[in-house]
Amino acid sequence: MIFKVMGITAGRKNSNSEILLKEALLACQNQGAEVTMIDLRDYNIMECTGCTVCTHGMTKGKHVGCTLDKKDDKKAIMDVMLNQDAVIFSAPTYDLMPTATFLKFMHRNLSYESAFLESIGAIEHRDRVGALIAVGGSTRSWQSMALECMQATCFTNDFKIVDMHLATRVPAAKQCLLHDEMINRAHEIGNNIMKALNTPVEKRKWLGDENMGWCPNCHSNALILGEVQWDGLHFPIECQVCGAGGDLEKTKDGKWKFVIAENGLCRDRTTVEGREHHMTEIGHTQGGFYTDENLAIIKEKFNKYKELKFSTIKIIR
Ligand SMILES: Cc1cc2nc3c(=O)[nH]c(=O)nc-3n(C[C@H](O)[C@H](O)[C@H](O)COP(=O)(O)O)c2cc1C
Repeated sequence: MIFKVMGITAGRKNSNSEILLKEALLACQNQGAEVTMIDLRDYNIMECTGCTVCTHGMTKGKHVGCTLDKKDDKKAIMDVMLNQDAVIFSAPTYDLMPTATFLKFMHRNLSYESAFLESIGAIEHRDRVGALIAVGGSTRSWQSMALECMQATCFTNDFKIVDMHLATRVPAAKQCLLHDEMINRAHEIGNNIMKALNTPVEKRKWLGDENMGWCPNCHSNALILGEVQWDGLHFPIECQVCGAGGDLEKTKDGKWKFVIAENGLCRDRTTVEGREHHMTEIGHTQGGFYTDENLAIIKEKFNKYKELKFSTIKIIR
């Protein structure tokens, strides 16, 4: 079987993100994969307008798509991307996070949310794998949300992340070429993608460093203090990315460890079941909102703000 692997990058032309992605894709091509690569900066991607027409339709059992489908290049890219066995994303870190080019593209994934679309019978389930490369000029400290944000945008389409790499201290264009170990690591990412694809779906697992990050489920390095959720569920500590719930425990050698509770994966956002639960939440919260009584209250209270105007910035071109 010939696997399809796509690379998606969002950095400077011919620079670190692109070079590392190309190295990873080369490993896939060497093992017989059919490879496609795009640079998001070459496409017209509009920002999600927040209209929620897609999720509103889905909660009513209808697949209505995105209202921007005919207005930019997102759908043409998704038609190819969703027909892949694997995708490798690479993006530079700006202000601790992935660049806005990457986020703008991925935040448009809501209308393609596979858990939602599967639950209403609009699409068939397809298992895919993915890997992430985040590039930055600094160390982990100044890239604290880079891989975490990237992974958070990948659930929507069931790209099971099997490996990720934080390329640090490469601020200058093409600087990664001075670090053979970084190039080798990118190559290994490609090899791990192929290893995952050649493994039966039910046996696919994380292939990166076993000790990476706090979370043993998604390997993110970001935890939050848990708060009571919409239906009363509460965990003392949650993984910020996958939503695994548990608590911190001290190991014998005095280090802190995040231990997932027995039911701690019931909201695991990396799984279809975990995200289907979120659709129930949206249905509950948004569904309950559109009552005649609520709409009347809002109409009346909004009068105060409707005509309220402050001084603004006028651009004269
Ligand atoms: C606006 C801006 C913000 C940046 N913020 C960060 C940052 O928070 N952390 C970091 O490690 N690097 C930061 N960088 C450095 C880039 O991540 C770095 O130059 C990287 O090599 C860019 O990837 P590229 O060569 O693929 O474009 C920033 C660069 C720019 C232009």
